[in-house]
Amino acid sequence: MQRILVTGAAGQIGSELVPELRQRYGNANVIAAGHHTSLPADIRQAGPCTTLDVSVRAQIDRVIKAYGIDTIYHLSSILSALAEQRRQVAYRVNIQGLYNILEAAVDNGLERVIIPSSIGAFGPDTPGDRTPNETIQKPNTLYGISKVFGELMGNYYVHQLGCDVRGVRLPGIISWKTEPTAGTTDYAVAIFYGAIRQRHYTCYLKPDTFLPMMYMPDAILALIQVAEADGKRLHHHADFNVNAMSFTPPDLANAIQSRLPEFRIDYRIDPLRQAIADSWPNSLDDSAARSEWGWQPEFDMDAMVDDMLENLTRKLAAPEGSG
Ligand code: SER
Repeated sequence: MQRILVTGAAGQIGSELVPELRQRYGNANVIAAGHHTSLPADIRQAGPCTTLDVSVRAQIDRVIKAYGIDTIYHLSSILSALAEQRRQVAYRVNIQGLYNILEAAVDNGLERVIIPSSIGAFGPDTPGDRTPNETIQKPNTLYGISKVFGELMGNYYVHQLGCDVRGVRLPGIISWKTEPTAGTTDYAVAIFYGAIRQRHYTCYLKPDTFLPMMYMPDAILALIQVAEADGKRLHHHADFNVNAMSFTPPDLANAIQSRLPEFRIDYRIDPLRQAIADSWPNSLDDSAARSEWGWQPEFDMDAMVDDMLENLTRKLAAPEGSG
């Protein structure tokens, strides 16, 4: 892993993974690829960047060759709620794009490909509490179907084609740097913007919706640790459960309220996102990740809330464009 391409580098995870990888592997060795030219300024200034539409195979080959890429973190993805509304673009990015990345990896002899999966890869028939790593996976969303496709394809490329593909099933990711776009778990990010700006948030999920979540530093840790893990110890490849914390909207609201006493939450349910959330598990059994590569999250809900409030308050107080 010397020359790393990150797709989806302008996204919620990519915008934080790129700086971390650059710190570890050197600025010049991590190429940030976004669909548009909308990469954050710090990413554009610190190292190489390129535009890339992952649905066009030739563009992937061109970037791999131009930069001598040996490893890809493939983060481009249309999140769950948007995918339901824009099926065609979701198919192109989440399924065609992923297939193109895997084929390009084989044809160009890449060393490693990391593709995140999601709790979206589970469905209404999946056991919801401490969901086992191996279980029923019959998602009823396009996003979830694309994630199961990614897991199965990733494992197929490992076993049939000798390509080293790895991935973790991420829960809802909470972060302050870049806002997610149209996911189902995003209330847990939006609530902080509401709390800091208006001391108020209207939640689109019902109060009893219990979902697994993770703070961004742990998501970055999981992606880097699984990528760097000793391959000889891995029995799983593209489908590791990773767990950190689980809560309902009122649990999170109470934690915020204990720090910002004027904060209030109310509810106006979005049936689309509620149905998606209802099909996802409450928590995951991540013992495979713990035993095969030492996964151990650092942030619980309280530590996350403290860090989010501090950093997001600072970010929102800073003049526009100051980073
Ligand atoms: N955060 C994602 C979503 O809500 C789940 O992987 O779509």
